[in-house]
Amino acid sequence: MTMVRHRSAALVLLALAAQRACAARPAATRDHSPATGRVTRTPFGTLPDGQAVELLTLTNAHGIEVRAMTYGGIILSVRAPDRTGRLDDIVLGYDSLEGYVRKSPYFGAIVGRVGNRIARGRFTLDGRSYALATNNGPNHLHGGIVGFDKVVWAAQEFRSDSGVGVVFTHTSPDGDEGYPGTLRARVTYTLTDRDELVVDYHATTDRATPVNLTQHTYWNLAGDGRRDVLGHELMIAADSFTPVDSTLIPTGEIAPVAGTPFDFRELTPIGSRIDRRDDQQIAHGGGYDHNFVLDRRGAAGLAHAARVVEPTTGRTLDVYTTEPGVQFYSGNFLDGSITGKQGHVYQHRFGFALETQHFPDSPNHPNFPTTILHPGEEYRSRTVFAFAVTRP
Ligand code: BGC
Repeated sequence: MTMVRHRSAALVLLALAAQRACAARPAATRDHSPATGRVTRTPFGTLPDGQAVELLTLTNAHGIEVRAMTYGGIILSVRAPDRTGRLDDIVLGYDSLEGYVRKSPYFGAIVGRVGNRIARGRFTLDGRSYALATNNGPNHLHGGIVGFDKVVWAAQEFRSDSGVGVVFTHTSPDGDEGYPGTLRARVTYTLTDRDELVVDYHATTDRATPVNLTQHTYWNLAGDGRRDVLGHELMIAADSFTPVDSTLIPTGEIAPVAGTPFDFRELTPIGSRIDRRDDQQIAHGGGYDHNFVLDRRGAAGLAHAARVVEPTTGRTLDVYTTEPGVQFYSGNFLDGSITGKQGHVYQHRFGFALETQHFPDSPNHPNFPTTILHPGEEYRSRTVFAFAVTRP
């Protein structure tokens, strides 16, 4: 392999690991030509406590551009072409740092230490009870009051055979938001010339702790967050999902999607069943706010989790992941109170998230795949967001 440029031996190893993992991708998306993209780094502002925040801009050979900042590892924008080649920004967020600090429903952020909810912020591990910060009614959500979305990550940009990218690192201290152990987390964004944004997660700990990292980008493939996402067509490769109670905590049941508004096994408009209030699960979520159990068909490694098609622009998004689940959140809590980029007001369901993850409240459900990371183990997870267009 030819290294175009490298900054340290560690990054070379990382690129090698990324290449090895790429071998698991479907053959059609493999490509070994050197990346021709660019990565730049600029100041982006200062937090109220004086910490400096930087912006990393990744651009690939086809002009797709991803901007991410060190605060929360937040993806601020993704500019991707429609079927006429017109580039638009397909994610929600703010123009400046200030908006993210003032009020953000996790726009574009890295979520951790545990994404999604933990019932009443409580769990037992190795005979000890833990009480986490509660920040969502009675429950713990997305890592607590100051989760991984609200800390400044160290960043190292890189360019490798796989693409251009940035490695974010953060050490979460023992007791952070109530979690045990010091957790060293690393999240890598790679923008490839195959028009994919690859997100690699890695973590180690010095005491057993739950870990469930995810990415909380709100997508609107029509561009610029100007209208709702109800006309987007969605496929989720899931035969079942995890029903929730009225506080969005899983009941523990793994229920079939067949015959319910949760059946997205074929491309279906997001809006076609979203207001079926006679369905108790839709009522609990105020729409979709549920974890789908991905159909891995026995295969380990990356699996196709979801496909989204925006019929008016032709933009498509395919999501692949090594995770067992994906939370489909249809932006139900967006209510017009946020004015985002370029003055656009984000009304009800103007964006959706596909948060690849282990199941919510896993520490309290022994029948769910475990989220517990032990000392000496490595947490590794990969999600690929692939951008393309379709013709009518
Ligand atoms: C949750 C929603 C929540 C949103 C923003 C999603 O992951 O499932 O319930 O409102 O994040 O916080």
